[in-house]
Amino acid sequence: MDSMSQKVRKAVFPAAGLGTRFLPATKASPKEMLCLVDKPLIQYGVEEAVNSGIQNVIIVTGRGKSSMEDHFDVSYELEQLLASKKKTEMRRLVRAISELAEISYIRQKEALGLGHAVHRAKDLVGNESFAVVLSDDIIASKTPCIQQLVDVHDTYGASVLALMEVPKDQISAYGVVEAEPVEDSARPDSLFRIRNMVEKPKAEDAPSNLAIIGRYVLTSDIFASVESIEPGAGGEIQLTDAMKHMMQNRPIYGLKFEGKRYDAGDKAGFLKATVEFALERQDLGPQFREYLKGLAL
Ligand code: G1P
Repeated sequence: MDSMSQKVRKAVFPAAGLGTRFLPATKASPKEMLCLVDKPLIQYGVEEAVNSGIQNVIIVTGRGKSSMEDHFDVSYELEQLLASKKKTEMRRLVRAISELAEISYIRQKEALGLGHAVHRAKDLVGNESFAVVLSDDIIASKTPCIQQLVDVHDTYGASVLALMEVPKDQISAYGVVEAEPVEDSARPDSLFRIRNMVEKPKAEDAPSNLAIIGRYVLTSDIFASVESIEPGAGGEIQLTDAMKHMMQNRPIYGLKFEGKRYDAGDKAGFLKATVEFALERQDLGPQFREYLKGLAL
């Protein structure tokens, strides 16, 4: 199949990481299952993928992550209980999670890096373009961020990454790109052609303030590129290095996406997202707002 002219149907969710930034919460439970208000992080990502037209979700898991599989499975006991208590709406909500997408799981036995994690999905993805979603990046936007990237992929037939401007004192936590703007009337001032990229540079070595955020649409030749590279930053097989390798043969684009991103893998970012998402909720927002107003801050 020609990966260029094809609809993006699959999304890979690397989820085998140890979540050390969020200890002790992540000692025995996956960071992907941390709850923003009342929904685990990974469900936000899966919903974003589904709302972007994706049908197949591939979760790359590791040891101690089985609660994710249970979350997306049918829970007969729970549904029976909710039915017997006539909690119809809650039962519908619980059932809908198991019907969100076709989900496959594959293990990453050792945490050897993001590039390595994505490569674990090679056989399940096959020869077609696919999305990658890092579920600790939560993005609130009018058009789902993945959909924004898919639109660029469909226009240019190329890989595309989500980009965001980041202050200099934080830039070394990211993959950083050197890029030049592309004239595109549908995406004024937001589309770039990537010229170089570097994973977690020192602030003084960063090629720009444009950081890669955890949403990608990649052509399937990324797998061969992962196979061609050596371990990079942190001794890990980095996705950024694989993309840089792929760029020798194929253009890669970057999109400053519309929307607000929260780093929910970080404790402060997670708290901000929790407060803002709770305020947005019709059922919780008004009373929560009153509560916050009453705090002597
Ligand atoms: C990963 C990527 C990095 C990217 C970041 C976005 O890093 O390797 O290029 O900028 O996600 O969240 P991590 O945060 O897993 O260290």
